[in-house]
Amino acid sequence: MASDNYRWLAKYYDHLHEFRRPFTSARKAILGPILPGVASACDLACGTGEMALLLAKKGIRTFAVDLSPEMCRITRKKAREQKLPVHVIEADMRDFALPQRVDLINCEFDALNHLPRQQDLPRALRSVAKGLQPGGHFFFDVNNQLAFERVWANTWFLEKDPVALVMYGGHKPGANRAWIDLEWFIRTGKLWKRHQEHIEEVCWSASEMRQALRKAGFDQIRCWDAAPFFKEELTRPGNRTFWLARRKAD
Ligand SMILES: C[S@@+](CC[C@H](N)C(=O)[O-])C[C@H]1O[C@@H](n2cnc3c(N)ncnc32)[C@H](O)[C@@H]1O
Repeated sequence: MASDNYRWLAKYYDHLHEFRRPFTSARKAILGPILPGVASACDLACGTGEMALLLAKKGIRTFAVDLSPEMCRITRKKAREQKLPVHVIEADMRDFALPQRVDLINCEFDALNHLPRQQDLPRALRSVAKGLQPGGHFFFDVNNQLAFERVWANTWFLEKDPVALVMYGGHKPGANRAWIDLEWFIRTGKLWKRHQEHIEEVCWSASEMRQALRKAGFDQIRCWDAAPFFKEELTRPGNRTFWLARRKAD
């Protein structure tokens, strides 16, 4: 992803919060049991920092990493306004480095799928493993091939003044890549300005993910289908998976 992608998405991400899925019940079920032992954490590909701020509010020493300068700026601003000590780092998830090892790294809302190439996964997982204490956890969710097939080749329209947004999705049958072209129309007074953005995602099978996690030094690898966590939403079984993996204790 070029670092200027997510410019308009960053600016209007919270405004059009339809983008964001309610992750509360998944976090509660999966992270709930380990959170009491977490003293430090990193929200990787933090976006506008929702999870980073929640972690910091719990008194957890929190870092937040994102490649988009605009996402970093927004997260910093929100942390400052809420007087929360979140340390925001602009970096690529393939080679980010934290000032200290942490007990938890989370990477939510299919952020991992944003890696430019499928083969970037081992590099990203090695960086995550390096950032974790032995015994620390990596929590993330990914879109699967089924989501690309069933959901991505679609057109969506969202409107919330001053924004109208058309999104044209695409997916080649059988391929592990999908994309969305976003056409933004942003109103200033009576004038509408048009901007374009392009987002791509790649995906992995469950066995590829498991193998890559093991190779990067994770054990106790568990996964959950996301559908039961999104009762009120149209997430069909197989579309999205939550993963929790432990960095091997030394
Ligand atoms: C769908 S958003 C998810 C944001 C946030 N985690 C959330 O739950 O709302 C994906 C995020 O990944 C970031 N991103 C994409 N590629 C990245 C990379 N290579 N390294 C770090 N962040 C990246 C984007 O800037 C964006 O903030």
